[in-house]
Amino acid sequence: MANRLTAGLRRLLPRSLLARSVLIILVPMLILQAVALQLFYGGHLDVISRRLTGGVAGDVAFVAELIRREPPEQHPWIFREAAWRLELGLAFEQGGQIQPGERRSSRSLLPLEEDLNNALGERVRARFDTDWQSDPRSIIIRVQLPDGVLHVEAPRKRLFTATLYLFVIWLVGSALLLSGVAVLFMKNQVRAIRRLAAAADAFGLGRDLGAIKPEGASEVRQAAAAFNRMRERIRRFVGQRTEMLAGISHDLRTPLTRMRLGITMLPRAAETEEDIAALTQDMEEMERMIAAYLTFARGEGTEQVRPADLVELVQDVAAKARRSGAAVEVASPASLALPLRPDAVRRSLANLIDNARRHAKRIAVAVDTVARTEPGGPGGVGADRDAHALWAQVTVDDDGPGIPAGEREDAFRPFSSGSPDGTGLGLAIARDIVRAHGGDILLEESPLGGLRARLRLPV
Ligand SMILES: Nc1ncnc2c1ncn2[C@@H]1O[C@H](COP(=O)(O)OP(=O)(O)O)[C@@H](O)[C@H]1O
Ligand SMILES: [Mg+2]
Repeated sequence: MANRLTAGLRRLLPRSLLARSVLIILVPMLILQAVALQLFYGGHLDVISRRLTGGVAGDVAFVAELIRREPPEQHPWIFREAAWRLELGLAFEQGGQIQPGERRSSRSLLPLEEDLNNALGERVRARFDTDWQSDPRSIIIRVQLPDGVLHVEAPRKRLFTATLYLFVIWLVGSALLLSGVAVLFMKNQVRAIRRLAAAADAFGLGRDLGAIKPEGASEVRQAAAAFNRMRERIRRFVGQRTEMLAGISHDLRTPLTRMRLGITMLPRAAETEEDIAALTQDMEEMERMIAAYLTFARGEGTEQVRPADLVELVQDVAAKARRSGAAVEVASPASLALPLRPDAVRRSLANLIDNARRHAKRIAVAVDTVARTEPGGPGGVGADRDAHALWAQVTVDDDGPGIPAGEREDAFRPFSSGSPDGTGLGLAIARDIVRAHGGDILLEESPLGGLRARLRLPV
């Protein structure tokens, strides 16, 4: 029950931080102002309204009583005095009668009208009515006297006070001001968080945008500084790994060359010929591995991410494979631009096509984009964005023997070569490159009968 309630509440809450924080500021403020308004209208305003209307009603009652008692020749004098001293405009309608049900009321939020009617009822002790509509500047009160109707024009300003409006303006104005400031301020905070999320996202995709400038609230700055430190550590770690790889590979070359020379100078005999041939083959294999490591390590170390055309890269690699005698078809759009390390991705593609060439006769390469079906992680940053995100996809199909489903993952392990002239590093390096771009390589069964390698890069 409580769970369902909180779940319902959560669904009602807006999702973005900006909307939530503005809500957190606005809701208590609106409640506060509603309470203030209620207190003001219910308390202070009532008192003021009753005093003001009581004053006007008293004057009207007094004048009406004078008119009733004094003979008609005194009336002009009373009218003059009332206009001058009480701001009441008087007129007497000889023989008039007030018809009941002629009242014209206003549609005001203020309780003035009811209070005036009550006050007049208490003090006048005769039939009366009030007209709040005919004149914008005054209220017309009619009082029934024995021989006619007394018309009283009371100026509205005797009933209204400016503080009423000031109070309302103050409430509305402060609400607007506060929400404006909240939105502006929170927007800055949220922008800093968004920038941090974007930088972390980009770094994960291998598109390093450099250290981010810490800005916003101290917690956000702290997160930005932590991100910068993490980025630096990862960069150092990757750099060190690559440097070590390159160093080892390079240093191994010299003793390897010496060994090769040594082997060629070994005394030849019929019974050692076979062993020497085997040794030479091993040497050559080691040299190929080292060369593969070196090219990989070199590119990894220095190449920067930049906008490139994936289709152009694929066409390039396919053309090179064709020149060395492979039958490669390519199906692709005219172009597909995305940020990547071109040489590294070229190497990765070349590895896939080279594998297909070695195991099959026909190779079909296709480039396209597909929607990412996996979300960006449970509630993760950019989960909304990922709903529309795309993979750029390259599939390399061949009609060779393929790899049995159970052994496909093993093929990615370094040195998992099944072929005598391979190093077993091709797929490992290819996947490493693509994963550093935030993508992946998967092996599947090809509709051509052989292996399908599916390479995906985030667009
Ligand atoms: N297109 C393919 N068809 C069949 N087997 C493949 C294919 N591509 C790779 N393999 C298998 O996976 C192994 C690992 O490939 P790879 O890492 O490129 O190493 P290498 O090509 O140097 O042997 C290969 O030796 C081969 O047995
Ligand atoms: Mg290979």
